[in-house]
Amino acid sequence: MTSPLPTFTQDELKAQVGQAALDYVVPGEIVGVGTGSTVNKFIEALATVKDRIKGAVSSSVASTERLRALGIPVFESHEVDVLSVYIDGADEIDHRGFMVKGGGAALTREKIVAAQSRRFVCIVDASKQVDMLGAFPLPVEVIPMASRQLARQFAAMGASAQVRQKDGAPLVTDNGQHILDVKGLKIADPLAFESQVSQWPGVVTVGVFAFQKADVCLLGTPAGVQTLNFD
Ligand code: 5RP
Repeated sequence: MTSPLPTFTQDELKAQVGQAALDYVVPGEIVGVGTGSTVNKFIEALATVKDRIKGAVSSSVASTERLRALGIPVFESHEVDVLSVYIDGADEIDHRGFMVKGGGAALTREKIVAAQSRRFVCIVDASKQVDMLGAFPLPVEVIPMASRQLARQFAAMGASAQVRQKDGAPLVTDNGQHILDVKGLKIADPLAFESQVSQWPGVVTVGVFAFQKADVCLLGTPAGVQTLNFD
């Protein structure tokens, strides 16, 4: 009889992948750091090796504050050239490394820092793995004056879009914009979808990360951290 697998909480799985991501941090360099509860675990792990790195480029005000509070120097994206690695979570990831991101409203800066990096290491627990993107409401950062028009365009696709709220008012991103959360999509061709929606006037960033897909996924499972490499 095989012994049962240990049971881990989702928080413990996030901590395991956050710790495992340290293997991808290049000593002496600046590391790209994403946003979210999984990345917060990575930031805690990164603080234990902070003397071995030069610092971080952060994808949000929240991550910047957390990094600085732990004594990790933070550089602006435009102060540095190419980063060797970007470490971030995801709301969904498929078998090709295509992702939906933006649950934490940081998608625009996340895409910028991902594009600046040679390698995207995605850290997620196994609940984020999907066959097809779209079950998680797709975040789209938009210029506020375009939100109604864009909601109509999504409705024409058979989806429904709502402006994300916080404390009874539209949430305002780090870039001063709004987020549309789009339900009811089935994104069979993430590259085509990202291309199409990115061109709609008023869209700042669509939360499909197909052009900036993951190169590696560290997947937290009850059997341990699995490493998925994508071509
Ligand atoms: C923030 C993001 C996050 O990476 C994504 O929402 C996953 O977050 P978490 O690790 O808290 O589940 O895209 O904009």
